[in-house]
Amino acid sequence: MRSEEREKPSTPLFTQSSILNPSRNYLGLVPLVVRGRPLRSHFCLRVVITGASSGLGLALARHYLEEGAVVAAVARRAELLQALAAEFPGRVFCYALDVRDAAAIRGAADDFISRVGVPDVVIANAGVSVGTLTEYAEDIDAYAQVMDINVLGMVKTFQPFVASMREAAGRPPSPLSSPRGGERERHFTLVGIASVAGFRGLPGAGAYSASKAAAIAYLESLRVELHGSGVKVVTLCPGYIRTPMTDINPYAMPFILEADEAARRVARAIARQKSFAVIPWQMGLVGMLLRLLPRWLYDRLFAHAPHKPRGLL
Ligand SMILES: NC(=O)c1ccc[n+]([C@@H]2O[C@H](COP(=O)([O-])OP(=O)(O)OC[C@H]3O[C@@H](n4cnc5c(N)ncnc54)[C@H](OP(=O)(O)O)[C@@H]3O)[C@@H](O)[C@H]2O)c1
Repeated sequence: MRSEEREKPSTPLFTQSSILNPSRNYLGLVPLVVRGRPLRSHFCLRVVITGASSGLGLALARHYLEEGAVVAAVARRAELLQALAAEFPGRVFCYALDVRDAAAIRGAADDFISRVGVPDVVIANAGVSVGTLTEYAEDIDAYAQVMDINVLGMVKTFQPFVASMREAAGRPPSPLSSPRGGERERHFTLVGIASVAGFRGLPGAGAYSASKAAAIAYLESLRVELHGSGVKVVTLCPGYIRTPMTDINPYAMPFILEADEAARRVARAIARQKSFAVIPWQMGLVGMLLRLLPRWLYDRLFAHAPHKPRGLL
């Protein structure tokens, strides 16, 4: 869908969760607040996911919701977020906003933290992909949008959570933080969805490759900055996943995963607190080979590779 068809919400849509009913996987303390008063406490994972209206983000949201989590679902298309919320009554907080809007994300973060608490996991997944060629002046805007959403959008997503996650990670575990009343250590994780496309510059996808290479480098900086703070940073590089983003690709996509399966593997890598993972592992080997290829050979092999269509943003 073209970006102009996706209405940019003027104000974020905050849909309040009125009844919290987590079923399984009680991993943290969630004070449920209704009309400003704590109603009761539950133990469940709190997850913030951007790009939760479609593809991998939607599959991740469903995965965590089926595990009993409370999810902040962030994307521009409010109606898709609300459809998800209707499937899991009371456990989805919808934030219809654009990840380029730092103030809107900060507002959503403040709202979620005040209602539910500091999230255990924040997944910066929102992203766009489009073919671009430098020789066309009209593609400059696409370069700017891709970098803005895929790189700065990730920074803006994490920014309002870092201080509160650091602070929560530094606190001793509460005796109430386990269902049996014993002490339980909570893990705080910032997850960036990058891509194998960030390993080398793919022809016809300069904006996307550059944005994912930048995301990988940024996530590494953040990981080192937060080393020892109790907040982990996980960099995930998927290969191909069957989603609206890849539906239009006019070329073969080896080792492609269904979105549900990709979400399961992403969640497993997050649970293992991996600092870096390629999904699936076969694409990890491909990625390793790509990185090792000398430039002269890479150029020859990829000179005639098919390109992603231009002009989609
Ligand atoms: N599919 C693959 O093969 C593949 C491979 C490697 C990495 N990835 C990465 O995985 C992530 C998810 O991609 P996908 O394949 O699931 O694509 P998708 O189905 O097109 O989903 C993209 C999601 O990002 C959201 N989004 C885009 N721009 C946004 C903005 N400005 N503000 C807020 N939300 C925005 C979209 O929601 P709205 O339009 O409602 O805002 C949508 O929910 C992306 O970062 C992508 O680069 C995908």
